[in-house]
Order: sequence, then structure tokens, then C-alpha cells
Amino acid sequence: MVRAVPRPNILLLESIHATAHEEFARHGVVVHTAAGAMEEAQLVAALRALPADRPVLLGIRSKTRVTPAVLDAVPQLLAVGAFCIGTDQIGLSAARERGIAVFNAPFSNTRSVAELVLGEIIMLSRQVFARSEACHRGLWHKSADGSHEVRGKTLGIVGYGHIGSQLSVIAEALGMQVRYHDLLAKLPLGNAQPCNSLHELLGLSDFVTLHVPDTELTRGMIGAAELAVIKRGAYLINASRGMVVDLAALRDALEHGQVGGAAIDVFPSEPAKVGDVFDSPLRGLDSVILTPHIGGSTQEAQANIGREVATALAAYLISGSTTGCVTLPNIDAAPLRSGARLLNVHRNVPGVLSAINQLLADSQVNITGQRLATMESIGLLHVDVPLRASDPEISQLSAAIAALPTSLLTRVI
Ligand code: NAI
Repeated sequence: MVRAVPRPNILLLESIHATAHEEFARHGVVVHTAAGAMEEAQLVAALRALPADRPVLLGIRSKTRVTPAVLDAVPQLLAVGAFCIGTDQIGLSAARERGIAVFNAPFSNTRSVAELVLGEIIMLSRQVFARSEACHRGLWHKSADGSHEVRGKTLGIVGYGHIGSQLSVIAEALGMQVRYHDLLAKLPLGNAQPCNSLHELLGLSDFVTLHVPDTELTRGMIGAAELAVIKRGAYLINASRGMVVDLAALRDALEHGQVGGAAIDVFPSEPAKVGDVFDSPLRGLDSVILTPHIGGSTQEAQANIGREVATALAAYLISGSTTGCVTLPNIDAAPLRSGARLLNVHRNVPGVLSAINQLLADSQVNITGQRLATMESIGLLHVDVPLRASDPEISQLSAAIAALPTSLLTRVI
């Protein structure tokens, strides 16, 4: 339960999953909802309509833009939850400058992506889409030509992170041999083995699947030169980011039989909304499975996102824990058993800790626990003290700390 503070309020937009509501109910957070996204002015007004005497949180998905005006709407705004994967819609540096915590759920759909890729490996290996297309056209194309079991085949995973390593485990359960390539030295799971280079992996894999982030190094990572060294007839799967594969070069490799087939879920430029027109150099090839960036789009992933972000927001309220926070330094703090906790987000400049400790010493308040984490220009300090959160003494201390020129956000838990 939230301790000794008025029940916090959260404004949840964009039909966030019921799991988030359950989590907030469990922690005594009062939920206000709106089904759609809001424009800036509407959102500012909605935040101002919440009770002014208690902490406020905001929960959005990808369509609501959190601008500096939104962050300044109410002084009691403590945190923003992005109930989605990305945080591009949020002014992160503006939030950081105001000491506002932002949480998201970058890994909630790991399993969903891994399962889709596994399904595509089998579909490609059995020419299912070409056969299905033929049936739809009224053509009975019963044949074993080019169809193979995946058991015993080699799966090359590029990027052995959350998704790559999850896929590694389930592919081995099907009897596949897993090889991987990663920028970092990654611990192999099961019998998977690392490759010395991307080119080595491309040359020995029957299926190549990409699970890397979008970075300078990965943009164009699979182009004509890489497709030329891929094992002839191998399949390529990209459910990572659109810029990783040169699609014109891939079409060429597919047309020349160098690549046997492909499954592509992500594109260099993607339509903005459902129903928009889609185009790609790969359209019209029946050896290619095209999907509209649905790798992570499952009900289970939505439920996980709701639960994960709500849990992170509740933990921030209750204990000041910032694990996984994208704007503040991360401190993993257990909830208090007794006493109170002062939480101070500050500019990371010399002398902050001594100024705060001096205020505590002047007030004759002992420190029972203290944690400091810094991240570039920002510092986060937890000070545990043997007072109750409702004691007037701690309100005075909190006000004195908040008045320091280095303080961005100060609160008592
Ligand atoms: P992750 O961060 O856990 O793993 C990425 C791995 O790639 C890391 O191990 C990293 O060291 C490695 N890596 C980075 N640069 C590399 C390079 N140049 N060469 C080789 N390895 C490199 O990320 P996660 O969660 O596994 O996601 C992977 C990708 O999948 C991301 O691009 C993400 O945006 C995308 N994704 C796509 C979804 C979809 O709907 N299709 C849903 C979820 C994620």
C-alpha cells in the first residue's frame, strides 16, 4: 500500500490494458481514464482537473505526445508511464530536467516476437505461403519440392539479446542447431554456439534471423555484400528494425535464388495508421511473407505491458525505486518497513550530498539509510530517516531540501 500520503491519482489514456488497472487498484492508486489519445491543450486541462493535493501520474501509449507544456501542467506530476515499447512520443530530456520519472516496457513482447519467427521458419521451410496462395487461386499444387523439416537445420541468430536468446531456446526444442552472432560476448543458452563473425554465420545458416536494435552499425547491415555470402537458398527473417535490411538488394537475391525466401515484419518506412496504403519492393513475391509490424502485437504482450509499467509506477510511488526508468538514475530500493524516505532528484553538481546532509544534521535527524545514483546531469538521492512521513519535522526538512538551488523534485515517502 502507498504509505502516509493522500491516494495518488493516475490519468490513463488510450485504453490501457486491464492488468494495469488491477495493479493500480492493488496499490490504492485512483484511476481516471480516457479511451483515446489527447492533444496537448486537452491533456493539460485533464491533468489540471485532478485533485491538486496529491501525487499525479500519467499513463499513455504511443499516440499521446508528452510535451514540456504537459510536463508543466501540474507541479505534482511525478511520473509518466509509456504503456508501450518506445518512448519517442515523450520529451525525455524535458522530463529529466524536471525530475519526472518515465517508465516503459521494452521487453514485454519478447516471447510474441520469438513465437512469430519460429512459426515463419516452419512456414518458409514448407513453402506454405506459396502453396496457400495457389489453393486460393484454385490450384492444387501438392508437391514435396523445396519442402523440408526444420529439425537438424541451422538457425543463425544475429543479435542474441532478449528476443534472440528466447528464440534460441524454443528453436532448439524443435531440434534446430543454433548459432549466433552478437556485438557483445553473450553467454550461450542450451547448445547454441557463437560465430566469430556475421559472415561466418551467414555462410553456415539455413535460416538467418535478425534481432538487433536500430543503430549506426546495424543500418544496412544486410545488403548486397552480405546476401552474396549467405548460404545459397537460405531464408532470411527480419522482425527487428526496418533499416537493417536493404530490401532492393534482398529482392534481387530472391529473384536469383540466392535467398530461398524471406519473412519481413518491419520496413524502412511504415504507414502511420491502420488502413493506410503499404508498399515495398518485396510485394508480389510468393516466397516472401510480409506482415505489418505485428511481431510483438499480441494480447499477452499488451497484458504484460500493462502489468509491467503499472508495477514500475507503483514501485516508484511506494519505495522510490527507479529500476528500468529511462529519465532518472536507477535505484532498486525495497519499501520501507518503518520511518520515512526523502527522495530528491537534483542536478548532478558538486556539493549536493553535503548540502542535504548538513540540513539533516542541523535538524538533528539521524540517517538510517542513504542511496545515491547519478546519470550524466541528474542525480537521485534516497535518505531514510527515523521519522513518520506525517511528522511536521519531515515536511520542513523536505521543503528546505526542495529549496536548494540544485533540487529538481523532492518528495517524502
Ligand atoms: P535487446 O537489446 O535485448 O537485444 C539486441 C541485441 O543485439 C543485443 O544483444 C546487442 O548486443 C545486439 N547487437 C547490437 N548491435 C549489434 C550489431 N551491430 N551486431 C550484432 N549484434 C548487435 O533487444 P530485443 O528486445 O531482443 O529486440 C531486438 C530488436 O527487435 C529491436 O530492434 C527491437 O526494436 C525489435 N522488436 C521488434 C518487434 C516487432 O514487433 N517486430 C517487437 C519487439 C522488438
